[in-house]
Amino acid sequence: MDRERAGKEILELTRTLLDADYHYYVLDDPLYSDAEYDKMMRKLQDLEKKFPDLAVLDSPTRNVGGKPLERFKKIKRNQPMLSLSNVTSKNELMEFHERVVKGLGSGPGDEIDYVVEVKLDGLGVELTYDRGVLVLGTTRGDGLVGEDVTENLKTIRTVPKALKKSNEKTLPDKLVVRGEVILPNRAFLDLNEKRLDQGLQPFANPRNAAAGSIRQLDPKIAAARPLAFFAYAIGKAPPSWMARHCDLLQAFSAWGFKVEEHWKRCKGIIKAFEWIERLRELRDSLPYEIDGAVIKVDRFDQQKLLGRISKSPKWAMAFKFAARQAVTFVREIKVQVGRTGALTPVAILEPVEIGGVKVSRATLHNYEELDRKDIRVGDAVLVERAGDVIPDVVKVIVERSPSPRGAKVKPPEKCPVCYSPVEKQTGETILRCVNRSCPAQSRAQIIHFAGKTGMDIEGMGEKLVDKLLDAGLIHDPADIYTLKGKRNALVVMEGLGKTSVANIIEAIEKSKSRPLDRLISALGIRHVGEHLSKVLADKFENLDSLASADIEDLVAIQEVGTEVASSITAFFSDPDNQALLHRLKEGGVNPAREHPSALGNELFGDILQGKTFVLTGTLDSMSRLDAKKKLEALGARVASSVSKKTDAVVAGSKPGSKLEKARKLGVPVIGEKGLESLLNGAALEEIIEKD
Ligand code: IVH
Repeated sequence: MDRERAGKEILELTRTLLDADYHYYVLDDPLYSDAEYDKMMRKLQDLEKKFPDLAVLDSPTRNVGGKPLERFKKIKRNQPMLSLSNVTSKNELMEFHERVVKGLGSGPGDEIDYVVEVKLDGLGVELTYDRGVLVLGTTRGDGLVGEDVTENLKTIRTVPKALKKSNEKTLPDKLVVRGEVILPNRAFLDLNEKRLDQGLQPFANPRNAAAGSIRQLDPKIAAARPLAFFAYAIGKAPPSWMARHCDLLQAFSAWGFKVEEHWKRCKGIIKAFEWIERLRELRDSLPYEIDGAVIKVDRFDQQKLLGRISKSPKWAMAFKFAARQAVTFVREIKVQVGRTGALTPVAILEPVEIGGVKVSRATLHNYEELDRKDIRVGDAVLVERAGDVIPDVVKVIVERSPSPRGAKVKPPEKCPVCYSPVEKQTGETILRCVNRSCPAQSRAQIIHFAGKTGMDIEGMGEKLVDKLLDAGLIHDPADIYTLKGKRNALVVMEGLGKTSVANIIEAIEKSKSRPLDRLISALGIRHVGEHLSKVLADKFENLDSLASADIEDLVAIQEVGTEVASSITAFFSDPDNQALLHRLKEGGVNPAREHPSALGNELFGDILQGKTFVLTGTLDSMSRLDAKKKLEALGARVASSVSKKTDAVVAGSKPGSKLEKARKLGVPVIGEKGLESLLNGAALEEIIEKD
């Protein structure tokens, strides 16, 4: 390809991919399928490799992280990066309000306009844009001197590398944006699981994980973690056309930043306090950690009038929620045997309530960590609960522990369940029971197999599994599929009646046709979690072809490294596992095809070729992204906005403005039933007539 064409194509791909990122990460409304996106990304990478000087400064390929640094540059600011003062009670909040009223010279009954936001619990950073282009990203440091972490921040999808132009929200030449880098709870859990698997120290909470990722010299590390950035303040004086903080938040959105969605304008301190309380209630349901709310005077002229004291503005205040930490005592330190035989020390605690949840046990991760923290029976410990994370022992509080303290805990020399020897593989921190048929391992395996991330067999939880094991009705996951023939034995079991047995059998039957990725995940292959299972199910047609793949086939997959690949081949070449797979098959386990793509093409061909759909609202039976993939597999195009050219709008519950627009333009609208018929091969015309 010649330079000129390459240049044009690079520009075009860059623009398309950046827009795709924006739709995916900021708006949560994807424009392309993963496959389409990957294809464009690879093409751009190829072109940039051939013509490196033509690569655009803010190329989305940079999201994978540039060269490692020797050390971070220190950056001195002209204006210090402020922090917030805290209050923890309504009374203290009222005192803040009174200071504001007084500072503004208004009367005691005057209502102040406030904005209330969540206080994100991550790492505060500052981004500098020069004529809309990101030129610098720094940590707070001590406020005046921060560290230049631009390369790491650039790897975050929700950090705009170039700002969107918006007509009404004129971009200032120089813009300094402050916000928080966070790691969502789910990603935090996955990351820790991976770290434990690799014998690394887990992070104590999502905040440490986010901060640790940004303070890495090698940007590839930050790039590999799904960090997010939320904008909430401006570093310099706001542009003159902006009157209020709420205008700023709206401008942030228009320029392409993600703004945490639970902010609210509140007239008067009473309304503001009500919203703070509401945020406190919402705390547990958010996918990321918040540690409080932030209340800000909305009007910039009033902010200016109030000014600041030392390092904190007088127009804003953090309302801290109770830390999800508590002090309690260790009753006992038990050993738990996992499905891979891993022996994990677990602290049994004096029950204590943390953030509305009763906590009576905490994981101690492994014996090295236990040794490092030196936790002993009887100790007073600080326990922390982060999001839906299993509680963690932060540290021993020696001053509050009994004296003398209990004996130091030694790692077990034998498995506490089957008394087999334990081993530690070289380079690993985790002790394992060597007995492959250790009953504790089988139990954990069965529970995992039937669990939510596996075959999702409703009703088959720990309690039932224990009963079935005790009764000798099952010994491994494949035995689950023999239960249908043991109905009589089941019905007479304590706590099970005819109906519940019928329900369980039905749930077991249903699980037989779960998609392939579920089955792969259910098998509990080391290093293969839910996400990798999806990747593998996507690449391999069925379990047999995955089982016969060799290391080379596996490492050819982008997300699979040598360690994972050898874990997979080791699993499938193990005779016990082969026997298990054989028995699962005999028991009727036959995964359904996840994407109807192959199916669709065989049966119906591209029956939706040339048709354009728009999706709106929530579908019950599948996610919008799945619906999009399925429609595309049948040849359709799925667009993000309705026009006269749209053939039909698929509306789920709570449809958005797209439905109104469809009605206005006379575009046919079909419901979820209609969509299902479509995916089953019905013609669009038929469905429109019926709906
Ligand atoms: S505003 C001049 N808003 O909490 C005001 N900060 O000290 C600057 N934080 O360092 C901060 N969520 O890292 C603001 N919605 C929010 C916030 C927020 C979290 C962090 C920020 C700051 C710390 C408090």
